[in-house]
Amino acid sequence: MYKNRTKCRGCGGEKLELVFDLGLQTLANDFVGPDGEHAGFAPLQVLVCHDCTLAQLSVVVNPQVLYSNYPYVTSRGETMRKHFERLAHDLKDEINGKLVMEIGSNDGVLLEYLMGMGDMGPRGVMGVEPAANLAATATANGVPTICAFFREEIASDLKAFSFSPDLIIARHMFAHVDDWHGFMRALTAVSHKDTLVAIEVPYALDQMERCSFDQIYHEHLSYLTVTAMDKFLAKTDWRLKRIYDYDIQGGSLLFLLGREDGTYTTHGTVWDFLTSEEQRDFVVDWKQFAYEAQTTLIALRLAVHRLVFDGKRVCAYGASAKSSVLIQAAGFTKGDIGFICDNTPAKQGKVSPGTDIPVVPECELTDKADAVICSAWNFFPEIKAKNPGYKGEWLNPLAGYEREKTK
Ligand code: TMP
Ligand code: ZN
Repeated sequence: MYKNRTKCRGCGGEKLELVFDLGLQTLANDFVGPDGEHAGFAPLQVLVCHDCTLAQLSVVVNPQVLYSNYPYVTSRGETMRKHFERLAHDLKDEINGKLVMEIGSNDGVLLEYLMGMGDMGPRGVMGVEPAANLAATATANGVPTICAFFREEIASDLKAFSFSPDLIIARHMFAHVDDWHGFMRALTAVSHKDTLVAIEVPYALDQMERCSFDQIYHEHLSYLTVTAMDKFLAKTDWRLKRIYDYDIQGGSLLFLLGREDGTYTTHGTVWDFLTSEEQRDFVVDWKQFAYEAQTTLIALRLAVHRLVFDGKRVCAYGASAKSSVLIQAAGFTKGDIGFICDNTPAKQGKVSPGTDIPVVPECELTDKADAVICSAWNFFPEIKAKNPGYKGEWLNPLAGYEREKTK
């Protein structure tokens, strides 16, 4: 089901140091029902490259196992819609009247948004999505979508059929890619000289700042810095041209890449980020992160066990991949967390991976819980607003015992 990584995915270096270890875990999106078959366990460990600062998992789980049928659906809520508005604004010159392709287009929600922009929108769109269930939904919703992993063959076929996009968007999928050089070759194959590529990834520095250890799971193979990206790109046809900084998904960067032979000039944000990272020792930073993550976990376990001991009903909100990591790392069972609410039909009726905790549809929490762990903390304001009648405690899983109250 998985293979080990012995060399850095970015620079090929062999000086990889183990900095964080959550032991064996079930795959974070392996939601199965009572009769379902689990895919299995794999180690969840982070290694940092001494040569280029890239943090990466020690193993690569077979992508067929992870993605052929994928329950993760991009949110259609307020937080994500606002982010799409911001993206469309920042990339307006690259979108207006242009051909736009999205890699890892999920159920087509972003392309649908762009298609709805009217005169300001793109001239044509194409999604590439490996999960058959999601690609089918996108197509049914009128978003042209190819069901495939984005590889050189698909890229060359598209170009041969005269589809060479002006803008390629890859939101939160680059960290899922094992073969980065193959991915960049595919981008070269489908692109023209002035194609721009917008790669959005969680920023490792934001993850460390927030101590969001729950964002580490088998799908996230890499934890990026600008330094690592820049060093990697130097060996490809692509260069960093501009960086946008967003608060989505706990803090993300959007890398705008252009081809080395293209005409797009490099923006000052690239130097600003590279300079700001220069002084840091990322191995030390990751070790500090690992220590804080363990203390956070201990604090959360203490808080939950105390509540249970006091006869309180604890539940979680958002059966995100993050919740799967958190729950497994803390060793919670149904006796600790009664249920998890989630609005994704494909997760409902299943159990949280590696546990017996049921996932149920979103419901009014007022009479059902005394304390709620907001495991989808990246959507906290939106989730809180859905429960105006709930007067109990909200537990922020990353703040340990520091609890947030509604009132
Ligand atoms: P994510 O953080 O990986 O995007 O996952 C968030 C999860 O939370 C996802 O399974 C959907 C769920 N969710 C709700 O159930 N209700 C909501 O209002 C929002 C925003 C998310
Ligand atoms: Zn490296």
